[in-house]
Amino acid sequence: MPGLLSSPVCLTVIWFLSWSLRPSRAQIRADEVSGVQYGRLEANVTLACGKAQTGIPVVWHLNHSSALPWHKVTSDGSLVLLHVDHSAQGNYSCYDSQGLLLHSVKLRLGHPPGLLSISCQVPNHTHVRCSWVDSVKTFLPAKYNASFRGNGQEWRPCIVDVVHKHCDVDHPAFWQTIHTLRINETNGLGFETTYVQFKLHELLKPDPPESVMVKELEGYLKRLIVSWNFPSSWPLHDAFPLVFHIRYRPLGSMYWSEIYSEESPVVISDALAGHLHQVQVRARDEVNSESQWSEWSPLLLVRPWQAYTTPEPDPVDELPPDDYLSSFNTKPETTTAKSRKRDPALPDEGNLGLVILLVLFSVVILTTVLSLIFVVWVRQRRRDHATLQELASMVKMKSMPI
Ligand SMILES: *[C@@H]1O[C@H](CO)[C@@H](O)[C@H](O)[C@H]1NC(C)=O
Ligand SMILES: *[C@@H]1O[C@H](CO)[C@@H](O)[C@H](O)[C@H]1NC(C)=O
Ligand SMILES: *[C@@H]1O[C@H](CO)[C@@H](O)[C@H](O)[C@H]1NC(C)=O
Ligand SMILES: *[C@@H]1O[C@H](CO)[C@@H](O)[C@H](O)[C@H]1NC(C)=O
Ligand SMILES: *[C@@H]1O[C@H](CO)[C@@H](O)[C@H](O)[C@H]1NC(C)=O
Repeated sequence: MPGLLSSPVCLTVIWFLSWSLRPSRAQIRADEVSGVQYGRLEANVTLACGKAQTGIPVVWHLNHSSALPWHKVTSDGSLVLLHVDHSAQGNYSCYDSQGLLLHSVKLRLGHPPGLLSISCQVPNHTHVRCSWVDSVKTFLPAKYNASFRGNGQEWRPCIVDVVHKHCDVDHPAFWQTIHTLRINETNGLGFETTYVQFKLHELLKPDPPESVMVKELEGYLKRLIVSWNFPSSWPLHDAFPLVFHIRYRPLGSMYWSEIYSEESPVVISDALAGHLHQVQVRARDEVNSESQWSEWSPLLLVRPWQAYTTPEPDPVDELPPDDYLSSFNTKPETTTAKSRKRDPALPDEGNLGLVILLVLFSVVILTTVLSLIFVVWVRQRRRDHATLQELASMVKMKSMPI
């Protein structure tokens, strides 16, 4: 490094830098704003010229320009800006008559904080998130300080996210009926504290059910099967059961049909055959009837199963499943042909029948052929026997003495 520093090139660079910076030093000083002063919009704002001595005339600049908003300069050199609006913001500098910078300050204008409008979300028993909006637009950066407590308990911090203007409390004392949130907003012009009281069990509102699916049920013209998952922010624990509300209607209808269920899936059995349906699900804490329903899950569209292969309506499909099964069992000869169209297992049974029939048929033919052969053989034997007897009797007759 010493070698590098003493090298002529390096020295030249250092000399050049210090030379190029020197003439602008005054300029830099002029930009050095010693602080920020906050002022109220639509009020008179007084900017002091540092330690300027009374009676010495001073010159004020805004953003390096001598053009100033409506103002007056007092005897001690202070600048009074009258009835300021946003255009009066900027860097103010005051100089003495020799052009020497005496003081500079950055002016920011706005309003002191007002009360906050606060709302809290309770997506499960272990989490509270409170968000707020300013009731007054302050135009100024603010700091927030939030704390939270149950009735008669110690204040605990509510962890603030300044960007999103919300704060979080984990594991609130859910058994306490009333809770208080205190948010303190501070800006350059003042501070304001807002208190809200609320009942966690009434604010409890799960997130909507997730992975909601609706499917047709093959073979049924009026059925739909709806399934979903618990919201991922809801603990999967027996202590926190949810009840689910399913609603559905044919597309274009005004009226919803409803089903309540504790478990997924649910079968809708009175859908309108051939129509597109809208289906949604929401959830609520099952135990706490004062809690709130979640938002509805996004609308899903689905049409019940249709017999695409057969244009004419199939009466079997209108029957409930038990009737359907019993009719199938008692009247196989009438339903098998129809069922074969939708049940891929059934054609195998038909083939089996055919095979049995073929086997039986061949057995019958074989038996017939065998019996025929047997009959022919027996006849032949009889005939042979008769011929032998004839011959014998003829021999006897011939041997008999005539
Ligand atoms: C601002 O100053 C002007 C002139 O001195 C005065 O007339 C006016 O009342 C002042 N306004 C306020 C809000 O103080
Ligand atoms: C005002 O001063 C600040 C701080 O020195 C500087 O960053 C800013 O650029 C200045 N603005 C103008 C318009 O001079
Ligand atoms: C002075 O500069 C500030 C930014 O630093 C700007 O907002 C303001 O409008 C400027 N004021 C004037 C009078 O140019
Ligand atoms: C927040 O407010 C409380 C009481 O209002 C105070 O004790 C605490 O110091 C404040 N914290 C901050 C970071 O301002
Ligand atoms: C409760 O909800 C919060 C916010 O969605 C989540 O971060 C937290 O994990 C949830 N708690 C449980 C036990 O699921």
